Amino acid sequence: MKNKYSGKFIALDGPDGCGKSTQAKLLAEWLKGQDAAVESFRDPGDTAIGEKIREVLLNPEHIAMSTATEVLLYMAARAQLWGEKIAPALMQKKCVILDRWLSSTCAYQGYAGGFGINQVIKLAADSLKMPWPDLTIILDVDLETSANRLSGRPDRMEAKPRQYHQKVREGFLELVHQQKNFLIVDATGEIETVHKKVIEVVEKMF
Ligand code: TMP
Repeated sequence: MKNKYSGKFIALDGPDGCGKSTQAKLLAEWLKGQDAAVESFRDPGDTAIGEKIREVLLNPEHIAMSTATEVLLYMAARAQLWGEKIAPALMQKKCVILDRWLSSTCAYQGYAGGFGINQVIKLAADSLKMPWPDLTIILDVDLETSANRLSGRPDRMEAKPRQYHQKVREGFLELVHQQKNFLIVDATGEIETVHKKVIEVVEKMF
């Protein structure tokens, strides 16, 4: 059944511990309740190749990895996910929800890692058919809230210093400022409160 969410590409992104995976699930359920056909993916991952790249990227033993290597590996996993899963789903007019996307490479590697946001975008333009989603929702949280939400052994990215994560947050805020089709949601509240705000921005956009 075709509706206003058919063929739309929506990404949820933000610092570690912002709650985007929970919010992506809730958004997908809400969209299904609106009679939309929905497919959800996580980036990096959700293809056989992408999951292997994810393991390499997040392995805490890989402390020698440079920012440029990170950029290329995240982009490689994304290019694979686009070709194998996202493009076919959009062709079938499904609504596609992404847990992270290019905005993460811009904020983490581009801004916090010093590779440059514009350099990341340039590389994405040459590697991806559709670099930017129809809507990117940035879930913004302060460092204390996000740190309290993380549990278990930190992966290689989570284990980076506090100053790095502070810059990641600044990078996301910079993107909201400079990119089209980006909306910000305050993600410090309860799950249900944040979910309502996410729905509001989705309804506002479409
Ligand atoms: P996740 O656990 O939220 O799925 O993300 C994995 C980690 O990878 C998380 O710490 C954020 C980081 N990351 C980047 O540094 N650059 C990227 O482009 C993406 C997609 C994730």
